[in-house]
Amino acid sequence: MSITADPSITLAGTPSVDATPAVADLDVIVSLAKRRGFVFPSSEIYGGINAVWDYGPLGVELKNNVKRAWWRSIVQERNDVVGLDAGILMHPQVWRTSGHVGSFSDPLVECTACKRRYRLDELPGTDSLTPLQLAEADVVTRLGLVCPDCEGSLTAPRRFNLMFKTFMGPVEEDAAVIYLRPETAQGAYVQHKNVRDAARKKIPFGIAQVGKSFRNEISPGNFVFRMREFEQMELQMFVRPEEGATAAFDEWLPRRLEWYKAYGVSPARLRAREHAPDELAHYAKRAIDVEYRFPFGWKELEGVHNRGDFDLSRHAAESGESLSYFDPSTEQTFTPWVVEAAAGADRAAFTFLIDAYREEMVRDEKRVVLGLHPELAPYKVAVLPLLKKRDDLVELAHRIRNGLSREFAAVYDDTAAIGKLYRRQDEIGTPWCICVDVESMEDRAVTVRDRDSMEQERVSVDRLEDYFLGKLRAARP
Ligand code: GAP
Repeated sequence: MSITADPSITLAGTPSVDATPAVADLDVIVSLAKRRGFVFPSSEIYGGINAVWDYGPLGVELKNNVKRAWWRSIVQERNDVVGLDAGILMHPQVWRTSGHVGSFSDPLVECTACKRRYRLDELPGTDSLTPLQLAEADVVTRLGLVCPDCEGSLTAPRRFNLMFKTFMGPVEEDAAVIYLRPETAQGAYVQHKNVRDAARKKIPFGIAQVGKSFRNEISPGNFVFRMREFEQMELQMFVRPEEGATAAFDEWLPRRLEWYKAYGVSPARLRAREHAPDELAHYAKRAIDVEYRFPFGWKELEGVHNRGDFDLSRHAAESGESLSYFDPSTEQTFTPWVVEAAAGADRAAFTFLIDAYREEMVRDEKRVVLGLHPELAPYKVAVLPLLKKRDDLVELAHRIRNGLSREFAAVYDDTAAIGKLYRRQDEIGTPWCICVDVESMEDRAVTVRDRDSMEQERVSVDRLEDYFLGKLRAARP
């Protein structure tokens, strides 16, 4: 179901027709990511482990920059949002109360011949089925579904809980079972009152959190799109019931869409999609996904959810602690409602990476460019000596890099000829290159080359820091 029943939500850029993906073949990105050190398969020397990926030197910079940009827009620039870093392991009652133990599951079918397992709702021909239909015992036979790999027969669906279990303490018994959190949100709910009191916040206010979550996904895949270990960036706004939630929803959905656009994602490849009532998660009263046109179709990038008082009421009832709020201005006591904007750090970084990718012909040669926003680019500046055998050039280039790296990530490279060095930096998204040449020894100036226009400008060495800080400030959304 695609949006926009609610006219108060501005969805500029929501495309009415299907958009072309930035990259037709996902393998192009997977291969660049590995070759240039953005993302590696986990534990590769042992054959890898499904659905876990490691971030290499450039990937960790990119993902840190994504998380920093999110934090700045969500926490730093807002007086009504504060941060939290709750533990991954929580009291197991949290997950019983939240409904995850009972309801956080996907419909699983298994091939009786090859034993492969599938998420029923991802098999061809199941697109239009409602969750209730997906749970029907005869759905597989009624639709004539078979194993996509070997055409063997499939079992009837059963619910498969996505939470990872482990044991706390030295004894592996039922009483010691705890879970790896499947979302960061619960940390904000169970710490809601501590945070509100300590930060002296009045409703409405928000708690933001960035951290790892774990889901034992039945069918992970599409590179880092769906993993079993991943990182979330979640904002929970605690608001007045009903109209406070409507206002927060209408504020945050367009704000979140804008955030992706401001950091360079093409508006044509972004849209908002409202969940049908029978598609809503167990906690949600309303949900709209921010979706991106990935090479494998329109998929969720982030979810904006109105969770009502589901979480706080249930935690209050189960724990016996009051989580209600007394509003002195109206003299009313109520349980705050929650509106969340739940994003994935990996999915966001992946999206920025794909959307930034372009190939172009320059003087009959293919140039690959990652047109990343300067704030997201792993390195802001590369410092390249024209002649690596000239000690004076090399020494000045190192001195420049060392100076700049106090302010932002800068890299030195002299392992190829200058043309090749420029191309390498284009391919990893470095917005500016500095070339230290023989003239630099005379005029104490260097050539600065712009990644996108490829224009070059002579800038004095003394001015470089201010020059780049000015450019970074100007690019900031
Ligand atoms: N607290 C609500 C919540 O967790 P969600 O829609 O299940 O909502 C929020 O998850 C975001 O977390 C998703 O939009 C996605 O960006 C990210 N995410 C969820 N599962 C993921 C997975 N298996 N791999 C990578 N990212 C995932």
